[in-house]
Amino acid sequence: MTARAGQGAATDEPRSYDIAVIPGDGIGPEVTAEAMKVLEAVAVMSPMEFRFDELPLGADFYLRHGEALPDSMEARIGRADAIFLGAVGDPAVPPGVLERGLILRLRRSFDQYVNYRPAKLYPGVPSVVTTVTPQTCDMVVLRENTEGLYVGSGAYLNRGGPGAVATQNSVSTGYATERIMRHGFDLAETRRRRVAVVHKTNILVHAGQLWLDVLERVRGEHPDVAVDYVHVDAMCQHLLLDPGRFDVIVTENLFGDIISDLTATLQGGLAVAASANLNPARSAPSMFEPVHGSAPDIAGRGWANPAAAILSAALMLVHLGEVDAGGRVERAVAEVLPTLSALAGPGMGGSTADIGDAVAARLVSPPPA
Ligand code: IPM
Ligand code: MN
Repeated sequence: MTARAGQGAATDEPRSYDIAVIPGDGIGPEVTAEAMKVLEAVAVMSPMEFRFDELPLGADFYLRHGEALPDSMEARIGRADAIFLGAVGDPAVPPGVLERGLILRLRRSFDQYVNYRPAKLYPGVPSVVTTVTPQTCDMVVLRENTEGLYVGSGAYLNRGGPGAVATQNSVSTGYATERIMRHGFDLAETRRRRVAVVHKTNILVHAGQLWLDVLERVRGEHPDVAVDYVHVDAMCQHLLLDPGRFDVIVTENLFGDIISDLTATLQGGLAVAASANLNPARSAPSMFEPVHGSAPDIAGRGWANPAAAILSAALMLVHLGEVDAGGRVERAVAEVLPTLSALAGPGMGGSTADIGDAVAARLVSPPPA
């Protein structure tokens, strides 16, 4: 190892992290500001510091430059230790341009093959699903994040005419299915040792059989993990009727997209749903983002709850190895949420910034235990 001043010695040098920040559109910048505020606050109590590299990507950038993500910016983002994304999307941009050109491109370019979406109902947080309790709602959806119907393969022929035809092809490889499956079983070993695999094997017989073959192979290596296979339609019912049955849910890309909106609803809604796009091999940065979108209808009013963004920042801390700090941020959010009069909108009992301030204040001077 080459000697560099200060390196290796147990000095008071803070651990320093380069974070690429994409605030994006709509409420994205508002909730991102609060997540950054909370990261700064947690750093006050620990020997760490953040260097934020803010990138002006999103609808305005696309409308001005005709490109969602220039190669040079992708390369710049690729040098960061992690990526934080607020939300992108704007009615002025046709559907798919920013979603595919920015979000999906980053997920795929940086091989973020695990979409990690925890659904935990914190005590004192209201859920519209009144039968759910903190004891019965503590699960993680692991969504395969690189293929399935999201690959974008297909064509639209004879557009607008009576002979219009569209194909949209789904791709499933043994390679990608096996790595998400392994991640699910490994995660289950650290939790309640239950894996539910979700697909639609009775109709999607080719891809479904591939998933079942991979499941058979991987479960053999984890005899202590209980396995459940559930069709995606039935899953929507079971999640409402018996959520306590689920711990780790492993599924393909589109099913995971749909199911994770349902699990977000169980845990109180999109106001509190966090997510991580993980590259477990760490060959490129992972990306952390709230599950919610840019909500242009409420942008600029201080009505967005930053909890989902702050909880996503907590996942980022854990990924960076700052496990203790990540836990403190999560606990601070869990303490603030029950003090709100509503989870989002004008009746929250505080603005977006007020909620960020309340979380940050708990980190700088935690309440007496
Ligand atoms: C999500 C979103 C995205 C997805 C879009 C915006 C690309 O719905 O993160 O769940 O479909 O994955
Ligand atoms: Mn979605």
